[in-house]
Amino acid sequence: MARARQAGALRRRSASGRGARSVASTARRAEQAAGGASAPRRHWWAALEPSAGLLPLRAFLGVTFVFAGLQKLADPNFLRASSPDSIQNQLHGALQVAAVPSLVHLALHAPVAFGVGIALAELAVGIGTVFGLWARVAALGGMALSLTFFLTISFSTWPYYYGSDIVFLFAWTPFVLLGAGAWSLDAYAASRAGTLDGAPSRPGTGAPAGAVLSRRVVLSKSAMVLVLGAVGAVTAALTAVIGRAGASARPSAGGAPPGGGATTTSAAGGSGTGSSGGTGSSTPPGTSIGPASAVPVGGALQFTDPSTQQPAYALQLTAGHFSARSAVCTHAGCTVRFSEGDHTFVCPCHGSVFDAANGRVLNGPAVTPLPGIAVAEGSDGNLYVT
Ligand code: FES
Repeated sequence: MARARQAGALRRRSASGRGARSVASTARRAEQAAGGASAPRRHWWAALEPSAGLLPLRAFLGVTFVFAGLQKLADPNFLRASSPDSIQNQLHGALQVAAVPSLVHLALHAPVAFGVGIALAELAVGIGTVFGLWARVAALGGMALSLTFFLTISFSTWPYYYGSDIVFLFAWTPFVLLGAGAWSLDAYAASRAGTLDGAPSRPGTGAPAGAVLSRRVVLSKSAMVLVLGAVGAVTAALTAVIGRAGASARPSAGGAPPGGGATTTSAAGGSGTGSSGGTGSSTPPGTSIGPASAVPVGGALQFTDPSTQQPAYALQLTAGHFSARSAVCTHAGCTVRFSEGDHTFVCPCHGSVFDAANGRVLNGPAVTPLPGIAVAEGSDGNLYVT
């Protein structure tokens, strides 16, 4: 008892004066010595609502989808069919690996509209998730997008856990089932209306009936949608304008299709897995893909393989020696990018790296080399897929 009284005295002293912290800790020690008579310490996280545990996941999903949408809108190559990064090329690549090719064929009827629609949908889902506004609807939209990507792009990824879309698909589940929970505009709108979303009011409180409350919640959330929708539309438009202005101010990078010539077809040469040099003495059989001079020395030029309609690269790794290789990653069908610095192809989806000279896999998860495409240079200076 004497020790407990001493602890109380020390606590009172700790309320004022210098050294309060050390006095308080001395008091705590004295209380512990007295047999733990004081109330147990409560950690700050004990006061959190259980749904707050989903905040990191919600922030990640929301920010990722906003970023994905804005990135597509900002990238002028995304809608340019001649670019290896374009939605058109991605769709052609997806045809090889899709679980539901008819979905891809459908998108190929209007690839630009499909690409813009996907970008705007990602942006809307991301904003709704970040702010927790109509969070269940946003989560259902995110789930639908992830399912679409899974069925078309990453379905053939093996092992399956290398594919991100299947993980995103399931990551949306808690928000579809439970909504956004704490720290969300949904919760704010519900609390302002006097009750949780759609829940009946407590009897005897005089609060409005549940239907009236639900109407209030819907109206206030609709007003928020208008405000956030306007902000999202302005952001999307500005992103597209700034992205294109930035791209036109940048010098074209090595390996990218140069100028307008790339909008038709571009050149390639050499033989399938190796290379062939020099100018042929006649026009070889096959389909012309453009002038050999369009392929930069030490670089690559993207073209569409006339036999498969798939993206491919023409290469001139050493002067006068042309070759060509498929640009469709053998792992799950993404379009690879040429890296001029080390003469490799790098897959943006899961990081596979291929040797540009022979297609060999330098880094997985891909295990199959990039196939070569037989090409030859004709006496007319054009390259032909033979
Ligand atoms: S698609 Fe997976 S590494 Fe290329």
